[in-house]
Amino acid sequence: MAIEQTFSIIKPDAVARNLIGTINARLEAAGFQIVAMKLIQMSRSDAENFYGEHQGKPFFGPLVEYMTSGPIVVQVLQAENAVLKYREILGATNPENAAAGTIRHDLAESMSRNSAHGSDSLSSAAREIGCFFEQSEIFSK
Ligand code: TYD
Ligand code: MG
Repeated sequence: MAIEQTFSIIKPDAVARNLIGTINARLEAAGFQIVAMKLIQMSRSDAENFYGEHQGKPFFGPLVEYMTSGPIVVQVLQAENAVLKYREILGATNPENAAAGTIRHDLAESMSRNSAHGSDSLSSAAREIGCFFEQSEIFSK
């Protein structure tokens, strides 16, 4: 298996409930190296661009509102098989369907306020990392 990078967001609901450390501890315990990280607030155009694949869907407007509503943590995570590995510990989009022990099962408030984001493929990861990080901000050997 190859070393990969994936893109992660600790979403506004989790930052507001002081869960940055809890989520980072889970990531590190699972074997991810956090190779880039910053606390930011997305602009409307950042969010519309980031979630462009969902434009036109009924949840798109509320999703953009929510993701711009407060600070978030954006991160690049590195590990073997990082993309799939993070989706596994993240859990299903709807926390009611997420497996016990996953971030969303244990921490999310609802389907829309689901605490964290993880890229769904290597190509999404590359695009999403590029939305928020310069290569010089990523500390991977
Ligand atoms: P999606 O990319 O389908 O999920 P994931 O985050 O697991 O990759 O959707 C992006 C976000 O949009 C999702 O995390 C929460 C929100 N969302 C809703 O609010 N309602 C919905 O019906 C869906 C599918 C997503
Ligand atoms: Mg997605």
